[in-house]
Amino acid sequence: MSGINYSEKIPNNVDLANDRTLQRALEHWQPHFLQWWQGMGPSDFQNSEVYLRTATSVDADGWATYGAVKMPDYRWGIFLADPVAERKIGFGDNMGQPAWQQVPGEFRSTLRRLIVTQGDTEPASVEQQRLLGHTCPSLYDLRNLFQVNVEEGRHLWAMVYLLHAYFGRDGREEAEELLARHSGDADKPRILSTFNEPVSDWLSFFCFTYFTDRDGKYQLKSLAESAFDPLSRTCRFMLTEEAHHMFVGETGIGRVVKRTLEVMKELGTDDPAKIRAAGAVDLPLLQKYLNFWCSSSLDLFGSEVSSNSASNFANGVKGRPDESQYEDHVLRAAQFKLETPKGVEDVPMLNALNEVMRESYLKDCEIGLKRWNRVIERAGHALRLALPSTHFRRSIGAWVDQPVTPQGKLVSREEYDRRLHEWIPSEADRAFVRSLMKRVVEPGKMAGWIAPPERGINNLPVDYEYVKIS
Ligand SMILES: [Fe+2]
Ligand SMILES: [Fe+2]
Repeated sequence: MSGINYSEKIPNNVDLANDRTLQRALEHWQPHFLQWWQGMGPSDFQNSEVYLRTATSVDADGWATYGAVKMPDYRWGIFLADPVAERKIGFGDNMGQPAWQQVPGEFRSTLRRLIVTQGDTEPASVEQQRLLGHTCPSLYDLRNLFQVNVEEGRHLWAMVYLLHAYFGRDGREEAEELLARHSGDADKPRILSTFNEPVSDWLSFFCFTYFTDRDGKYQLKSLAESAFDPLSRTCRFMLTEEAHHMFVGETGIGRVVKRTLEVMKELGTDDPAKIRAAGAVDLPLLQKYLNFWCSSSLDLFGSEVSSNSASNFANGVKGRPDESQYEDHVLRAAQFKLETPKGVEDVPMLNALNEVMRESYLKDCEIGLKRWNRVIERAGHALRLALPSTHFRRSIGAWVDQPVTPQGKLVSREEYDRRLHEWIPSEADRAFVRSLMKRVVEPGKMAGWIAPPERGINNLPVDYEYVKIS
């Protein structure tokens, strides 16, 4: 085997240098990962120097270093948050017992499936976004795209580490499969459908990082509660990076709103046709994108009633995000009032945990909406952006295929079909957004449909050359 110095080549805090078996497994997987990155990662920018942050420790106030790096040379590392001494299981029927340092045999396939499903989303998003670099609205945004991409790559490493370190041969096979499935592939698609949707314009990218990465945040938060301690520690550290991905989404949409309001002021109109003619995104169009990506991301939490979520919780495999904020951690007696098309039903709380998680996710989604709406209000406009009803355009669960409007009103199938493109982007809307996607790569310059950010990255100015294209 090649004499790779792992502590140098792969930053880590799992003592890789002293684990020969794990090293060998990763040595075998690493070239496959790089091949995947070259073939399925960002198209065309592999020789450009990008100003990236790299995780180099789990130190709360100095976990990352910044510097110009070519993406294939990025140091994808393996980091687990520091162990909590004598950590106990925090929920479910085994609450209070010691957390698991190894995988219990009876939960092996469940844990493997959870890790594979999480792991699958990480490279999927890189694949979905691989062409966006060609139409970046600025070098600042191009850098943020690549930052998100390399970190999703690192999240893949994080899951592959768990598969290699704790699941033996089937773990190694799953690690290979994570590179063999591809987003949107007819024969071998990614596991979850949202991760097979193309992200072919930057408005979609900002919505994706706002809604879909936030689903990631909630999945990671619930896995961070897991009794399987290595999974918990891995996810806790991934959340540190995830915050930036949602920052990219929230500020990206915020900058679109800001720019649109400027154009509305210049033109003295809120007529969508005139705003589009001026090369900006009218707010009703933005609302359609929010409806599309929010409803698509809501499906990721699974069916409202789920026996899997019940047993995962009862067994300690997967908790609720921020489990400690709840009072009842066992839930054997609790009930949940679930809205269904047939009326409100009482279901055991244990079976309704996907819905509980979806509700806390939506609360988190509201934060950005409030911010954007404040800016719209200050500019003197009556329109307010809103999240769609959780019953709108659902592909799974109690509301699957129900003709419900984004406002939550059940309408006839005929009306729903006729009005659908008032609510989600039509082909013409998408074509218009695509027509805005022109590459801007002069340092400090922005495309006409988006305002500049308030500040640059890591205290650098906005007009810093964040990507040296070559
Ligand atoms: Fe991720
Ligand atoms: Fe992410």
